[in-house]
Amino acid sequence: LRASVAVRAEKQNKEGLERCFQPQASFKVAILGAAGGIGQPLSLLIKMSPLVSALHLYDIANVKGVAADLSHCNTPSQVLDFTGQAELGNSLKGVDVVVIPAGVPRKPGMTRDDLFNINASIVKTLIEAVADNCPDAFIHIISNPVNSTVPIAAEILKQKGVYNPKKLFGVTTLDVVRANTFVAQKKNLKLIDVDVPVIGGHAGITILPLLSKTRPSVSFTDKEVEDLIVRIQNAGTEVVEAKAGAGSATLSMAYAAARFVESSLRALDGDSDVYECSYVQSELTDLPFFASRIKIGKEGVEAIISSDLQGLTEYETKALDALKPELKSSIEKGVTFAQKKE
Ligand code: NAI
Repeated sequence: LRASVAVRAEKQNKEGLERCFQPQASFKVAILGAAGGIGQPLSLLIKMSPLVSALHLYDIANVKGVAADLSHCNTPSQVLDFTGQAELGNSLKGVDVVVIPAGVPRKPGMTRDDLFNINASIVKTLIEAVADNCPDAFIHIISNPVNSTVPIAAEILKQKGVYNPKKLFGVTTLDVVRANTFVAQKKNLKLIDVDVPVIGGHAGITILPLLSKTRPSVSFTDKEVEDLIVRIQNAGTEVVEAKAGAGSATLSMAYAAARFVESSLRALDGDSDVYECSYVQSELTDLPFFASRIKIGKEGVEAIISSDLQGLTEYETKALDALKPELKSSIEKGVTFAQKKE
């Protein structure tokens, strides 16, 4: 794995920006919530992908201008805009990957779960349309609380008879990106080499970075472990507080989501060496959904990597036990919401 990460990084560096101007594949990507804080920079980053032939931007408002603006970038993909419920279905037709950053973000003092009441309904509506129009697409859920919105999506897809657990992903890449950055800073490592798996879920203590599995292998004092884990778990709140009411992480989130989209597209394109962490249906623990490292292939989740959970430190074992009740209740909350009769 470590060798393949390094080889991939080197390859990407060599190819550099030139790649953006040469079409290499022709996948269609839809972004639902494309005019938002995450949606806009994410659309820009995906517009730079040589693997994309069409970029469908959907939002309930303000998406026309975003699409007009982006369409002037001289990269191969065609940009189309779709506004409002009436155009939602068309935005999804023929799409290979659907990314969902629609919904409200946190303000200072809020937990991700405080967003549940609004975002649960938004995700439900959008997933119903995905089920009706592109049931075979990879679905990337960014809208919080991810710990609940992914189980909601799974239930809605089941109700529609099109649930494929291998193609439903909760995007937790930002936790990995943050862990990699903070560990590299703390241990003075070359950023490109650092890879920290993050397991569990995507809120507070359910975010569990496995520092003992950091590549390259590196040792931490107890104090460093404590400081790093707390910082990674609270990194979202760090941004929410710095933005002081103007939203949560958007740019780093767009970067992380674009990485996850690019990985998915490479997998769809036949690359057999694609690994990411993601919150998916899983049998790794007794919980029905769990974030861990996965292997992505043409058909979605090809394997859930169990080796990261072997040989955990005492600290990590305790943290894993501690996160389970919270994650379980977030999953149940999502399932109950989705099963509720109108
Ligand atoms: P934002 O408020 O800037 O943008 C949200 C966009 O969604 C807006 O353009 C809005 O018009 C649109 N929207 C609202 N209802 C919609 C609907 N029914 N259909 C389509 N679009 C709709 O919010 P931001 O900052 O972009 O965050 C979006 C979500 O991403 C939030 O729920 C936030 O908590 C979550 N998030 C997730 C992270 C992760 O790691 N998974 C990290 C950071 C944020």
